[in-house]
Formats: sequence, structure tokens, C-alpha cells
Amino acid sequence: MIITPRTRGFICLTAHPEGCAQNVQNQISYVKEQGTIDGPKKVLVIGSSTGFGLASRITSTYGAGAGTIGVYFEKPPAPGKTASAGWYNTAAFETQAIKDGFYAKSLNGDAFSDEIKQKTFDLIREDLGQVDLVIYSLASPRRTHPKTGEVFNSVLKPIGETFTNKTVDFHTGIVSEISIPPANEEEMANTIAVMGGEDWEFWIEGLKEAGLLADGAITVAYSYIGPAVTEAVYRKGTIGGAKDHLEKTAFTLTDKLKDINGKAYVSVNKALVTQASSAIPVIPLYISLLYKIMKEKGLHEGCIEQIERLFSEHLYTSNEVPVDEKGRIRIDDLELRADVQEKVAELWPQATTESLDTMADLNGYKKDFFNLFGFEVAGVDYEKDSDEMVEIPGLS
Ligand code: NAI
Ligand code: NA
Repeated sequence: MIITPRTRGFICLTAHPEGCAQNVQNQISYVKEQGTIDGPKKVLVIGSSTGFGLASRITSTYGAGAGTIGVYFEKPPAPGKTASAGWYNTAAFETQAIKDGFYAKSLNGDAFSDEIKQKTFDLIREDLGQVDLVIYSLASPRRTHPKTGEVFNSVLKPIGETFTNKTVDFHTGIVSEISIPPANEEEMANTIAVMGGEDWEFWIEGLKEAGLLADGAITVAYSYIGPAVTEAVYRKGTIGGAKDHLEKTAFTLTDKLKDINGKAYVSVNKALVTQASSAIPVIPLYISLLYKIMKEKGLHEGCIEQIERLFSEHLYTSNEVPVDEKGRIRIDDLELRADVQEKVAELWPQATTESLDTMADLNGYKKDFFNLFGFEVAGVDYEKDSDEMVEIPGLS
């Protein structure tokens, strides 16, 4: 069938198999061009189908030659209905990786559940024996607690007082003011339950107890800090509370991994258009200004450039892993460079529906958004019939 984008707010209900496959090929090519990384050999990526997790899987395989197991939550296709983008991304990655002689298998289901964890542990035991890197890259609006069955929903709210600022509807380019009332304590706790470190801890404890972590294994989860303009709603809001918890969990995990010489890290990444970040108020306006500035300065990176740099310049060098005063790896260094943030602060008050065209890279934002779903990708013939019924070759 001919597949076109069908959007509802900040989600797209359709995805294009060939477009997603081309995105994956582009990421593979980028990593191959960067040369080899003396890195991990057996890798588990939790949240492997899109965004930073997909980039981590591709970098592990095409940078370091690793076999990978991916865990994700994606919608399979049905006749006349496309799969979700992460499904097509994974199909494309595993098809290519297997063809190139790499081990690549995956599980589709709720990573927060004990069932998927157990299945993943079994697969590691049977096929790989142990893993030496675990990437934790989940982004989810809800979590069912595996022990109590309680369902937690995360919220994106400030703490203490109402936050009022500008935002943009990136489809229309209309800049408007939004006010977000502060979270109550329960909403704060729920957001921590979803996006904090508890599930990461469950994964790492479970893997370790089952003897599935190699000596010297490392685990990395992803965090975000961002600029002053988003601070009240992001880093000092509910999601920031969850990130604080995630960052604290790295220390707990490092303690627990001492006897196998393992280590847990949090890497603070750059703001990028992903399915997760499109949903956060104010962030799209910030990203569209940031993109313009970073592209003009030649500093722009996407997920794959970020993660390739994380592996080759931070995690897998002969030196100690460089961290900040809070023990975090910082690959948001270019985003937070003083000249970049000064320019953001200068442009922010001037940003209006009328000025945005010239001031911001709204087209870059939109293109990245559609690209997430395999649309507007260079080299793809969108007039051609696509087969939506794509299978994932390594799906267990
Ligand atoms: P994403 O939405 O592209 O990827 C999320 C992944 O999690 C997908 O593979 C999805 O299938 C999987 N997933 C979600 N719920 C699941 C579940 N219940 N069970 C199994 N898999 C599930 O998100 P993105 O942006 O790559 O985020 C990953 C991490 O990076 C998050 O912790 C996010 O906060 C962080 N980050 C994101 C930034 C951004 O600007 N996008 C910046 C810095 C950090
Ligand atoms: Na991800």
C-alpha cells in the first residue's frame, strides 16, 4: 500500500518501512565511517528500537562488532495497518546485522515486567552466556509495577508553582503561552516510579543474581539537564525529580557491581527530536532555536553522532571515563556551551509566530519529527507501494 503520515498532535499513527530502513542504513554508514571502537562484545539494550537506544545498538554492532539483544515495546503490523516505527527500525537493523554476520535478537514486550526480564535473562544465558554492556534507554509515560501491579503515570509538571512560558505547535509554527500547574506529591512520586531508577536497578540486580554480567561489565542510562528556559518544567520539575533518582541509582548500582568490577554510569545527552521529547511542553520551541544555533556553529549532532561519541570518546578509551562533579558523563557539552546558551537566551524573548521562520529551525524540527516515522527521508520513493507486513528476523 501507499503509506502517508497520519499525525495526531505529537504522535504519528503510521510509519514507513522503507523510510525507517533508510534511517537505519544512514546510521550504520555513519558509524562505519568513524572507524572501530575497542568496545563491548555482548550488549543488552533496553529500549533499543528508536532514539538513543537504537543508536546504542547500532554503535555497539557497527562500531565495536558486538552481538546485541534488544528489548522494546512496539506495535507489529496488521494487514492494511502499519507497524510502529520502532518495529520497522528493528527489522531493518536485525536484517542487516544478521546478513553481516552479527548476532542480533530481540524481545517485544513490557520491559518493566518480570516476564520480559526473565525471557531476556533466558535468552542471554542460552545464546551469549553473559553481557558486558547494558544500555538502559526506556522512555515511557507509564509503568505497571512488577511486584504490586500498581500502574503509575508520569506527568510533566513544575514543582511548587505554576510555570508559564512559550511553546510552539511545531506543525503550525504557532507560538503561544502555556501555563502548567504544579504537580502534587503523588504525581511527583508517580513520575519517579516511571522514569526514575527503580526499574534499572531491578534489571541490573536480576542480571547479576543470574550470573549474566561479565566481569567488568558496565551499564549506562540516559539523562537530560537542558537550559534555563526549560528548567522549571524539566530539570526542576517532575521529570527532573525522576532523573535525579536515576542518577542516584547509578551510585547504588556501582556499589552492587563492585565484586565483578562493574560500573554504572549516567550519560547526560543532548536535546533531540524523538518520540519522547516531542511530548514535552516548551522543549520543541527550545529545540527549534537550538538546532538553528548549533547548525550555524557546525555543532549539531543527532542520536547516532551523540552515541558514537559516547562510546569512542568517553566509555571505551584507554583513559578513565571522564565525569562531572556528580559522577555523570556529559555529552551535552556542546548544547550547554556558553556561546550556544547565550544565543538561546537572547532569542527566546524574541520568538513569536512571525519571527520563528527566520529565527528558528522549525523546518529542521519538523523534518526530524517526520523522519522518526520514516517519512521525508532522502532517497525513499513514497509513491511506490510498500509492504507493511515486515517481520523482525531476530524476534524471540
Ligand atoms: P524514544 O521514545 O525514542 O525511545 C524509547 C524506547 O523505549 C523505545 O525503544 C521504546 O520501544 C522503548 N519502550 C518504551 N516503553 C517500553 C516498555 N514498557 N517496555 C519496553 N520498551 C519500552 O526515547 P529517547 O528520546 O531515545 O529516550 C531514551 C532515554 O534518553 C530516556 O531516558 C530519555 O529521557 C533520555 N534522553 C532523551 C533526550 C531527548 O532529547 N530525546 C535527551 C537526553 C536524554
Ligand atoms: Na531509546
